[in-house]
Amino acid sequence: MAEEGGGEEYLFKIVVIGDSAVGKSNLLSRFARDEFDHNSKATIGVEFQTQVVQVDGKEVKAQVWDTAGQERFRAVTSAYYRGAVGALIVYDITRKTTFESTKRWLDELNNVDLESITTRLVKRIGIAYNTYIVALFSDLACDFHIKRVKLGVYGAHCDTAVARMLVGNKCDLDDIREVSVEEGKSLAEEEGLFFIETSALDATNVMKAFEIVIHEIY
Ligand code: GTP
Ligand code: MG
Repeated sequence: MAEEGGGEEYLFKIVVIGDSAVGKSNLLSRFARDEFDHNSKATIGVEFQTQVVQVDGKEVKAQVWDTAGQERFRAVTSAYYRGAVGALIVYDITRKTTFESTKRWLDELNNVDLESITTRLVKRIGIAYNTYIVALFSDLACDFHIKRVKLGVYGAHCDTAVARMLVGNKCDLDDIREVSVEEGKSLAEEEGLFFIETSALDATNVMKAFEIVIHEIY
């Protein structure tokens, strides 16, 4: 959480991830400008929008980042996730493959999240980053991956973890649905995520999805 200005204003970075054409850019334009584009083009690189939201009488700026679902158009991953305190992991309820991909997106998010938590923990206990990493990962002669997982368990109890929401978009297309509400809910439970179905087209639950994440961060 970054504080700006006179201490009354907060800036939260939220990232939106998921396969191409699940509706990430339209969720963002619906949230920030109440707009929808039937012919939206695939995102290239990174875009972001800032929207002011009131939480408990305080002004919160949500800076929402949107990137390409297509690998070839994606920007450098770690830069995209850096400083994020909230994440929307989006799939399209009419395409099962996009639902199956959410695990991969979560893995990517968790890896970056873990790295930032590690860095923050290191800063908090005041030991030089390099010394800490060498001590943890090399000298103990343990497997690097196991150490990361252990740190993850520790990190999960840390109050600075990223607030995550699984979003099943295009719920206006219920008649050609390939992923049931129950499947979405159960994956979210398994992974410890919030869950919501949205429609960027008819605006169902779009504000709510962002508001829940922002409230959780706040
Ligand atoms: P990339 O930028 O390639 O990663 O795609 P994206 O996830 O940003 O998808 P985008 O928002 O561009 O939407 C893809 C297509 O789905 C567009 O044709 C949108 O009009 C359509 N779309 C997005 N959201 C909805 C929705 O809620 N309902 C319906 N019916 N169509 C949607
Ligand atoms: Mg896009």
